[in-house]
Amino acid sequence: LFILSSQPFHSNKVCWKQKGGMTLHRIWLYVSFLVWLPLGLASSAAPQQPSVTREPIIIAHRGASGHAPEHTLASYRLAARMHADYIEVDVRMTKDGKLIAMHDATLARTTNAETVYPRRSPWQVGDFSLAELKRLDAGSWFGKRFAGEPIPTLEDIIHTLKSERIDAPLYIELKQPGIEKSVVQLLQKHYYLQRGRIIFQSFHPESLQTLRPLIPNGIPLIQLIGERETARISPNELLEQVAVYADGVGLPLSLANQEWVDAAHSRGLIVHVYTVNNPHDLARLCSIGVDGLFTDYPDRPARIAACHQPPRG
Ligand code: G3P
Ligand code: CA
Repeated sequence: LFILSSQPFHSNKVCWKQKGGMTLHRIWLYVSFLVWLPLGLASSAAPQQPSVTREPIIIAHRGASGHAPEHTLASYRLAARMHADYIEVDVRMTKDGKLIAMHDATLARTTNAETVYPRRSPWQVGDFSLAELKRLDAGSWFGKRFAGEPIPTLEDIIHTLKSERIDAPLYIELKQPGIEKSVVQLLQKHYYLQRGRIIFQSFHPESLQTLRPLIPNGIPLIQLIGERETARISPNELLEQVAVYADGVGLPLSLANQEWVDAAHSRGLIVHVYTVNNPHDLARLCSIGVDGLFTDYPDRPARIAACHQPPRG
């Protein structure tokens, strides 16, 4: 109504005068008032819709690894199609210094290394060159339809996302100290070192401390915490130390409770939780205010449904 009445109604062309001085625009105002009034009253009476307390970011754990073999281009593509906010890539280095996506330190669980290289036990990633690793099948163990999926290098992943116009930010875990500079150089080469495009995490504090001077401000460093660590140090002592060099913590689901979240937030640390696959956990974790969730199933409906809670307090 205010907008209507503030319109410059008077123009050099039109200013009709009605009998008794009532101008056209006054009639327009009265009509508009009569139309808008009931609508305005209805909306103020509408029940308050539950608002989202805070929708945590969804991180596709090893890609959409509940639907496709972990750390393959198939699982990363699927994660992007499922609108994950970040795609997690565990990074290791080969014998010849190449960066590949691989969770385990050995190849036996997720490739056919024991068949292809029967005399190379214990099939440590660092004992193989990239060329040797590229002969392996990293998909069949998960399902026949993924037979032949190769182990991707970090560069393969970036090239594929770019060539397929998949704009998915990466959440990179450095699985071993000593690879920090190589990771940063590769990401820099592909313009990935930008806030909002990358998050770094590691179980190794020295990796995060090495990364800090190598990367631009604003790119989060997340200290991963294992269940064992909290056996010998209290949450507050541990978080006090982490807050010196990191921007957040990666908590195992078993530790994720209001005490940890509040203790982290009070030190300006964000909290990401791994690995959340049960929808019931999603709702609880949203209600305690976690900032992100790693999940093997980044399908969108679970996320939206879980975090529509009535405002707390
Ligand atoms: O990075 C979060 C989570 O992936 C850490 O555990 O063993 O799955 O790498 P893991
Ligand atoms: Ca990981």
